[in-house]
Amino acid sequence: MSADLIHPGHINILQKAAELGDVTVGLLTDAAIAGYKRLPHMTYDQRRAVVENLKGVARVVAQETLDYVPNLQALRPDFVVHGDDWRSGVQKETRQRVIDALASWGGRLIEVPYTQGISSTQLHGSIKQIGTTPDVRLSRLRRLLDSKDLVRVLEVHSGLSGLIVEHASVVADGGPREFDGMWSSSLTDSTFRGKPDIEAVDISSRLQTVNELFEVTTKPLVFDGDTGGKPEHFGFTVRSLERLGVSAVIIEDKEGLKRNSLFGTDVAQTQSEPADFAQRIKIGKQAQITDDFMVIARIESLILDKGMDDAVRRAETYIDAGADGIMIHSRNSKPDEIFEFCRYFDKLPTRVPLVVVPTSYPQVTEAELVDHGVNMVIYANHLLRGAYPQMTKVAHTILEHGRALEAEPLLASVKETLSIIPEN
Ligand code: SPV
Ligand code: MG
Repeated sequence: MSADLIHPGHINILQKAAELGDVTVGLLTDAAIAGYKRLPHMTYDQRRAVVENLKGVARVVAQETLDYVPNLQALRPDFVVHGDDWRSGVQKETRQRVIDALASWGGRLIEVPYTQGISSTQLHGSIKQIGTTPDVRLSRLRRLLDSKDLVRVLEVHSGLSGLIVEHASVVADGGPREFDGMWSSSLTDSTFRGKPDIEAVDISSRLQTVNELFEVTTKPLVFDGDTGGKPEHFGFTVRSLERLGVSAVIIEDKEGLKRNSLFGTDVAQTQSEPADFAQRIKIGKQAQITDDFMVIARIESLILDKGMDDAVRRAETYIDAGADGIMIHSRNSKPDEIFEFCRYFDKLPTRVPLVVVPTSYPQVTEAELVDHGVNMVIYANHLLRGAYPQMTKVAHTILEHGRALEAEPLLASVKETLSIIPEN
């Protein structure tokens, strides 16, 4: 069981099982669940506390993978009781392996008909409608990092873009594939307001965007903190972000007027002294109240042509200063220097989550990133970059034709537009 949201279907299965003997529940861990579907709302310990106290349950064991065979071999049960909804879909193969394992000691599989009219999927839908709390949202990022090979994050700059990240889902490898979280990008939050990406959009305005996003979404958010501003101010920023339920802030090791990293050395940009930046990290870490909030340090050495050695040394310094993660940025058109960094990063004495932003090297696959030990991928500007050419095209089409008809094929219908927001 995942047992995130207990409903009569679960109780039915437990009752059938209790009629056969002592019931051991194999409770899927966060990592086992996150491998094929959405991370549960409750942590493993919370779910365990609930299941242990259900009538008829003798004990709970951790089910660390989707393959039940290791647990079954350890327990050698007379019966395995499971809902019959696993005969098709992702769990089909698991089911066959269970049948084969049981056969070796004469055990039997008992399948209980699926309870109609109620399902976890429905309940998850209702929970999304109810929303979330700052604490639950904030802590979700660490849980995701602990339980997934790669946390997948997409840029947002408005409530509407947040809704897209919240609901986008495709079926891949037999299960749903979704974004795990949102990135509040300084580039797109500024561009959306018609402003340059030079910390000209003040923190109050940036927080206003976050507030609007949080009104309509439940997924965790990583905040682009630019340089962190004046060191004396950074602690206050951390407190504000944390209070809203933001999970992490990423600050970059630059000084003075910040320009967008993808300009590289085409514009004047100054990298901070490692010790000064380490101090900024410490200020952030001291300011936070929860254990879960993360201060992630972003290294600009490769962006500014300071070399691999400098990047790796800085990673070590920033981790020593308390950084909860490292983001390594590159403007190279190939991922090679990122992969090289990964190899050095793996050898550092302390390992923290590693974040990359494959804007200039979009050919890299998530599977390759996992192979190199990357823990979080941020698609940092893609929704805004997708919207802009289309909006421009619509504007030109109306001008060229002196009417709107020719623009219609480029547009969502009014019906579709109204249905984006269910309350309309
Ligand atoms: C952003 O999205 O604002 C970033 C990433 O900081 S980059 O634009 O590549 O610098
Ligand atoms: Mg930025």
